[in-house]
Amino acid sequence: MTLRQILIHPDPRLKKVCDPVAEVTDEIRKLADDMLATMYEAPGIGLAAPQVGVMKRLFVMDCVKEQDATPEPMVLINPEVSWVSDESNVYEEGCLSIPEQYAEVTRPAEVRMRWLGLDGQSHEEQFDALWATCAQHEFDHLNGKLFIDYLGPMKRKMITRKMEKLKRERAREAGSKDFLS
Ligand code: NI
Repeated sequence: MTLRQILIHPDPRLKKVCDPVAEVTDEIRKLADDMLATMYEAPGIGLAAPQVGVMKRLFVMDCVKEQDATPEPMVLINPEVSWVSDESNVYEEGCLSIPEQYAEVTRPAEVRMRWLGLDGQSHEEQFDALWATCAQHEFDHLNGKLFIDYLGPMKRKMITRKMEKLKRERAREAGSKDFLS
């Protein structure tokens, strides 16, 4: 298993519509394993392939938050939304590509998705609560959409500026580390 580097917004790869996965290959299985490890390490509850620079329609999630509970890692390949509830829900969302920024986003409270599993079989499941929010947030990533796209232009611009600053600082730190080694 290899931890992958998570892209930080703004990055053109986070704004693109991803391509369907043609077949579940060893490469895809390795990608899913790496993404789950990267997500748990972060730590986060969801991670989409474009966030690690792979422009494919695949995301992983595990919304079990309790420390002692059994993890429930899920891998969704080529997911499709087959139904959403009329009822909506507000959650304070964050994103591993937009570290330490949180904002309330309104989405359908429940969602039904169909996807291809790592077993090559078609799966369908209905998600609610945090799972529903997470699945929709990750699904958005596959279409180049971020949670800040639901916010007003001022708030979005403010967060984007903070991220640009963070990226500059990280680049500088990486540069000085190279210099010292
Ligand atoms: Ni995200």
